[in-house]
Amino acid sequence: MLDFIINNAKIVTESQVFDGSIGIQDGKITHISKTIGESANRVIDAKGKLLLPGLIDGHTHMEMPFMGTVSSDDFYQGTVAAACGGVTTIVDFAVQPRGGTILDTYDMWRKKADPKVCVDYALHMIIRDFNEINLKQIRNLIEEGVTSFKLFMAYKKELYLDDGAIYSIMDEVVKYGGLVGLHCENADLIECFAARLLSEGKVEAEYHAKSRPSLVEVEAVQRGIRLAEMSGSPMYVVHMSTGLARDEIKEGADRGLPVYSETCPHYLTFTAEAYRRPNGNRYIMSPPLRSDEDRAKLWLGLANGFIKTVGSDHVCFNSQQKNQPDFSKVPNGVIGTEVILPILYSAGVGKGILPLTRLVQVTSYNPSKLFGLYPKKGAIAVGSDADLVVLDPNKSVRLSVDNLHSNIDYSIYEDVTVTGYPVLTISRGEVVSEDGQFTGKKGKGQFVKGKQFPAKRPDL
Ligand code: URP
Ligand code: ZN
Ligand code: ZN
Repeated sequence: MLDFIINNAKIVTESQVFDGSIGIQDGKITHISKTIGESANRVIDAKGKLLLPGLIDGHTHMEMPFMGTVSSDDFYQGTVAAACGGVTTIVDFAVQPRGGTILDTYDMWRKKADPKVCVDYALHMIIRDFNEINLKQIRNLIEEGVTSFKLFMAYKKELYLDDGAIYSIMDEVVKYGGLVGLHCENADLIECFAARLLSEGKVEAEYHAKSRPSLVEVEAVQRGIRLAEMSGSPMYVVHMSTGLARDEIKEGADRGLPVYSETCPHYLTFTAEAYRRPNGNRYIMSPPLRSDEDRAKLWLGLANGFIKTVGSDHVCFNSQQKNQPDFSKVPNGVIGTEVILPILYSAGVGKGILPLTRLVQVTSYNPSKLFGLYPKKGAIAVGSDADLVVLDPNKSVRLSVDNLHSNIDYSIYEDVTVTGYPVLTISRGEVVSEDGQFTGKKGKGQFVKGKQFPAKRPDL
């Protein structure tokens, strides 16, 4: 007797689409075949539905201390939202506090997350203090299963590291099989442009985008690629927003460098026009929203495989937190984990831009390979965790505040209606969301250790 059988699904992996059934026992996938000749405690008929690997959202910031406040989704509410969006693993960013060590930060984040998470999670480490202690602890942290490090070229007063520090950390990370993620924006130029705009009384949300134009990001991506080249480290550009940056990454990858990039649902949905809306502050994130042309190039980058992943950069702030006297004081960030799959399916697969296999590559297979989670996560294979999502291709849902699950009092996607929606999310064999309702349990998620980045680069 099995725990669970899903019959008659259209099963989608990173390389195939086929009709079949899946059997689950003790949280693992045990059967994949046309039919399963056994009984189970629960059997569902998924005729007309798609069955995909549960998503790995490689970019979340739950209860993140940032810009003088804390993001409003904690590890409970944020992973409720994740589960309802078909996400079965998040990779959250632990933020090393000034003066703290990265090993202590790892313990802090485990203590915050473990009692609250409703789906599984892994961690990246944000290093803020470049010093001997933290440099030495990189090796220990990788042994603990935190194999990726985010470094900031932006946020001069808060998270910034200079090029020497970034190079030195890359140099250490590559020795022990880690991956460096970079926030690519030129901090000095942002400071310069923002100060000019503010001195002219230009305080509205649209000036956020003007203080961080596309080339500010492109320059930093170019520099990041060169730093990766000099150090020999693999490098991952997080939350890439521009077409030109995409071209730089492609050029680096064509030269044989292990450089990868991620984009986010908001860059695929909105343009800088949103900053002129009545609540323009709510769309403030960094890098900012760009042009229609950028958005089209990002979609194309995903379609043809130049951009490897879509992560949400989920960092919620409620309307009160977003309501600030000028753009430079607005905490940067928007929701995202719950909308990755609906946006990519509806606007990508539904519009004929993304093949189904590419959808799986960018949402689960590639992040699992890059962050060392494969084949436990990101695979529909016998022996892999039974992390699965059933998607109804005909279900239409408005991404309004009433339909989403984050601890936030508005939705930037209020006017967006998608067709194609997750209707069942399974985390290690347990149903954590069904028909838009969270059905999981607080604290049932587990920490997942990342494996080292392979010396032979993953073939993505
Ligand atoms: O606007 C953003 N992206 N906020 C979160 C912090 C970061 O840079 O990822
Ligand atoms: Zn960032
Ligand atoms: Zn982020």
